[in-house]
Amino acid sequence: MEVSFHGHAVVKVKTGTHTILFDPFITGNSLTDLDADTVEADVILLTHGHSDHVGDTIAIAKRTGALVVAPNELAVWLSKKGVENVHGMNIGGAYNFDFGRVKYTQAFHSSSIEEEDGTVVYMGMPSGILLTVEGKTIYHLGDTSLFGDLKLIGEMNDIDLALIPIGDNYTMGPEDGLIAAEWLKAKTVVPIHYNTFPVIEQDPKAFAEKVSPGKGVVLNVGESLTL
Ligand code: NI
Ligand code: MN
Repeated sequence: MEVSFHGHAVVKVKTGTHTILFDPFITGNSLTDLDADTVEADVILLTHGHSDHVGDTIAIAKRTGALVVAPNELAVWLSKKGVENVHGMNIGGAYNFDFGRVKYTQAFHSSSIEEEDGTVVYMGMPSGILLTVEGKTIYHLGDTSLFGDLKLIGEMNDIDLALIPIGDNYTMGPEDGLIAAEWLKAKTVVPIHYNTFPVIEQDPKAFAEKVSPGKGVVLNVGESLTL
């Protein structure tokens, strides 16, 4: 499969049969190379309800008919917004879909959406997502601080690729990201969630070089790796 990075926390996984998009924040994403009007998706996986993660989900799902998998409160909200194909999940739960297995993990963060009238709606617990497809496991950490159970998640799962936020301010920064990388024991580590806004400016190459030799990989926007 091909895993490509599209700025912020947007990651595309192209398997033999499906195109899976994580957190498709395209409109307003200064870094991305994707176009919300043309991007293809069979499946959209959402970590939490913040606008820089839900992004263009509603428009993409309506146009493509993609299945949207999300924390339960967010899934309910999306269905009320007219997204027909939604699947709600919650932390610790796994489900075998036709495209692969999805397991939600905890993340230490927050999760809400601001409606057009300014009302802030609670979107359930923020999450990370373990995606197992074609025998490989990808861990998208979502937005989170460092927490001790990342060690447990690393012990319980044979992680081929960990997508670790390094932006700091809203999530863990590079120093904590290095500890996460060590605990997760992932074969490959790709930094995400940096340089989109001034407060999350980081040097991803410096981070990748400090991850155990050869494991840290910076994907420039639009670049992919093969798993
Ligand atoms: Ni967030
Ligand atoms: Mn975020």
